[in-house]
Amino acid sequence: MNPIDVVDLSAIFPAEDFRLKMRFERGEPAQFYKPSAQANRVLAERKHWLENTAEACTAITDEGAPLFEELLELAAKWKALPSGSDIASVLRLPPLEQCRWLCERWETDFLLLKPGADGLFRLHGGGLCFPSHWDLRSKMGHTVAEIHEPVPGLNATLGRSIDGFLAKIRPGISWERHNWGLSRSPELNQHPSRKLPRLDDKVTLDEIWWRLEDQSLVALPRSGGILFGIRVTVHPLREVRNHSTACEGLLQALGTMPEEMVIYKGMGRARKRISELLRE
Ligand code: HEM
Repeated sequence: MNPIDVVDLSAIFPAEDFRLKMRFERGEPAQFYKPSAQANRVLAERKHWLENTAEACTAITDEGAPLFEELLELAAKWKALPSGSDIASVLRLPPLEQCRWLCERWETDFLLLKPGADGLFRLHGGGLCFPSHWDLRSKMGHTVAEIHEPVPGLNATLGRSIDGFLAKIRPGISWERHNWGLSRSPELNQHPSRKLPRLDDKVTLDEIWWRLEDQSLVALPRSGGILFGIRVTVHPLREVRNHSTACEGLLQALGTMPEEMVIYKGMGRARKRISELLRE
């Protein structure tokens, strides 16, 4: 079974105050991109969004096309493509179609970055069916700092460390971290245009879901680019409420999170209510 299928709740919600952190763990790319136990359901949902909103899910610049070619070769090496995939014929498709091809076959969303002449990494392509409230097209060509601009305090505290980290990672290793969020909807696709229900002070425990974003950074050896993989899973908040250590950890994070971060994470009208529900 893929480790993604086994969530360690106390590691996601540790007993510590909320803070923005870099904490990466070393992993194997082939393991990160391996199909999960939910592969059939997740791939069917990706197909649905690609058929209905392909222009929101895929994007690639001219500079992104060679990065994608390298990604496909690595994916084949990791045995992370369906058996019988004919890479040579995929590479004859227009670049945007190539992105769509992979997006439909991978459970994981992917972003491709490349350093410019100034050394800063910019976003050059991606396949994103399950965004957590952000829009792929509006971030294309932007640096990581520009992309992170809406995240309160992130550039000020971690911006330089993030750029430094991206510049020094070497091929062959999957550098992994995670983000969590809370939502009033179990939908995997939380594109801003969908206007999904928001958390507020009337929400009930069974209406709240926590989202886990498992992320992986892998250096692309030939181009000097980076593959950023994001695998989203959604779980009932009740699971955390029933896990005493994780529940205390989440309460501590909620209690110590700066107000602007609470608002960014969509909990501006719900922080007190969620804490009460976790204590009941
Ligand atoms: C390398 C270290 C990185 C760290 C520590 C980091 C950290 C974060 C954090 C804390 C958030 C806020 C998430 C939340 O609480 O909901 C965020 C958002 C985001 N990050 Fe990163 N990130 C990193 C790299 C990247 C890279 C390489 C990309 C590639 C494009 C990226 C793209 C994004 C995007 C698109 C968002 C959402 C921004 C929005 O709301 O508009 N991050 N990141």
